[in-house]
Amino acid sequence: MPIDMNRVVVDEIFHDFIITVNLDHDMDSLTEDAYVLKYNYPSQSISNIGGWQSPVFGPQCSTEILNTIPQSISNLQKDCWELCNSITTGKFQKKLRKDHSGWWVNINEKHHYNAIHHHGRTDLIAVAFIKTPPNSGKMIVARNDGSTYSQLYDDFQYSVPSEAGKLYILPGHVWHYVAESFSDEDRISVSFNYYISV
Ligand SMILES: [Fe+2]
Repeated sequence: MPIDMNRVVVDEIFHDFIITVNLDHDMDSLTEDAYVLKYNYPSQSISNIGGWQSPVFGPQCSTEILNTIPQSISNLQKDCWELCNSITTGKFQKKLRKDHSGWWVNINEKHHYNAIHHHGRTDLIAVAFIKTPPNSGKMIVARNDGSTYSQLYDDFQYSVPSEAGKLYILPGHVWHYVAESFSDEDRISVSFNYYISV
């Protein structure tokens, strides 16, 4: 006997989110300044397979180190913190910690990618895409809960549009990776880790 669907209530629970913000920063200046950092700092090895990742910068760094950060990147990180703090205040009624955050710059060349990872107990992560030539690899968010072995669902991965000039904000616990670049031009982004103030 077919059931009257008006009798059925479906509540969506335990969802995640991704927030997109259009940045009004000058991507050319940011690109130039990303290379200034690359020239000054050897690559760290975190999630990158190939490519260059800057050290993690943040309020914990000495003034001497913070003074080496080019102006456009310094402005970007200040503005992104303000943006994310406005969003968490508006959406979750929670503020971000000003004394605890981290950010770093990524430059991937052809055939480089970032292995799948999450940011542990980081509350919020954000990625500002500075330069994303065609075929330079998109950021992919992947589910890793029980839904991946259930027949109910078909989609386990979300492809972040990864457009230059946009900031994408998502919870720090979600697994993500960056697909291999097949572009002859570099792909540049800045990543941020933020923590809620308790
Ligand atoms: Fe990441």
